[in-house]
Amino acid sequence: MAFIKIVNEYEAEGELKSVYDEIIKGRGKLSNIMKIHSLNPDTMVKHMALYKTLMFSKSGLSRELKETIAIVVSKTNNCDYCVNHHAEALLFYWKDSEKIKLFIEDFKKYGTKRYKPVEYPVSDFIDNQFTISLVSHFLFLYEDHINYDLHKKIILELLRITSKEIRIFPIVNLKGEKSSLVDTLMHDKDFERNQISVKKVDYEFMKNGNEMMAITH
Ligand SMILES: C[S@@+](CC[C@H](N)C(=O)[O-])C[C@H]1O[C@@H](n2cnc3c(N)ncnc32)[C@H](O)[C@@H]1O
Repeated sequence: MAFIKIVNEYEAEGELKSVYDEIIKGRGKLSNIMKIHSLNPDTMVKHMALYKTLMFSKSGLSRELKETIAIVVSKTNNCDYCVNHHAEALLFYWKDSEKIKLFIEDFKKYGTKRYKPVEYPVSDFIDNQFTISLVSHFLFLYEDHINYDLHKKIILELLRITSKEIRIFPIVNLKGEKSSLVDTLMHDKDFERNQISVKKVDYEFMKNGNEMMAITH
């Protein structure tokens, strides 16, 4: 527990808010260790730069080894928070590198027989080719760049090629606010025959990004 005042994400304004938003955009979350600098955003920016340089820049030590050293040092310092923080980072690194390895092996083996590049709203998949379609970090997120008309065309195309359900995650825009297109879609007469629901999920890769939309026929 820190003895100095901390400004939380939801009460941050001005420069602090921009720095928080930038960190959440890049890292997916805001660690307590960063929030400790909330009275001095400039220190926070420099702390983040030091952390990124140490952990992610090219060096003789792998990222994995760096996180492992950080865990050992944290344990020696009796800092449980730091142990958890670096253990979580190490776990993500392992999971990610395992997934990346799996994907590379699979892509080498099956190439475009399994992975089809498509630029929506047009695809050459047949009607109901898939049972479920998943859309991740694309629709709603870029509402400032992709207008409602294009969202609609893409969803209609996905409905054509999907027999059961389309899932769109998250439903926030880049600022972490619920996209205004969510309500537009839910009130669009062209979708009145579809069931559209919003469900909470137990993961949050970016600020407020913990809800998904399910659309069924
Ligand atoms: C932020 S990335 C998300 C990648 C991945 N789905 C994820 O969640 O990590 C957005 C993706 O949308 C793809 N994209 C952009 N416009 C597209 C379109 N019209 N049709 C299909 N994919 C598109 C981009 O190529 C990019 O890979």
